[in-house]
Amino acid sequence: MAQVDIAGSISASRRANGRIAPVTVNSFLFKHPVFVGDLLSFYADIVKTGNTSVTVYVEVWVQRMRLQDEVVKVTEATLTYVATDRDCRPRMLPSID
Ligand SMILES: CC(C)(COP(=O)(O)OP(=O)(O)OC[C@H]1O[C@@H](n2cnc3c(N)ncnc32)[C@H](O)[C@@H]1OP(=O)(O)O)[C@@H](O)C(=O)NCCC(=O)NCCS
Repeated sequence: MAQVDIAGSISASRRANGRIAPVTVNSFLFKHPVFVGDLLSFYADIVKTGNTSVTVYVEVWVQRMRLQDEVVKVTEATLTYVATDRDCRPRMLPSID
């Protein structure tokens, strides 16, 4: 879950061009187990932006250590982050040029 948060926060922080705070985990689905030795890949997409918030959908895929042809989506989650200022208050997202 911590790694999903890191993946999501990278996209959100780039969009916010700075400091962010996670405000909510909208959904978190563990579809298949992760085993020791699995190679994990995280894919994050921004699905919604508001005035100060960025919502990110994160998928986690594994390549199994012993069955390298098998690639499985194990987890998906949606998290919302808020752009914050130095005083940890919400700030407007920068416009996209
Ligand atoms: C994140 C934080 C700065 C937001 O401050 P706030 O006063 O609650 O913010 P607001 O009510 O003005 O809402 C700010 C944005 O968050 C969104 N938001 C707030 N609560 C939400 C919720 N439960 N679900 C989805 N979005 C939410 C609002 O819709 C708003 O988005 P918008 O500006 O794009 O419309 C504040 O709640 C906070 O500091 N929380 C603690 C964060 C933290 O410690 N996270 C670590 C968890 S391990």
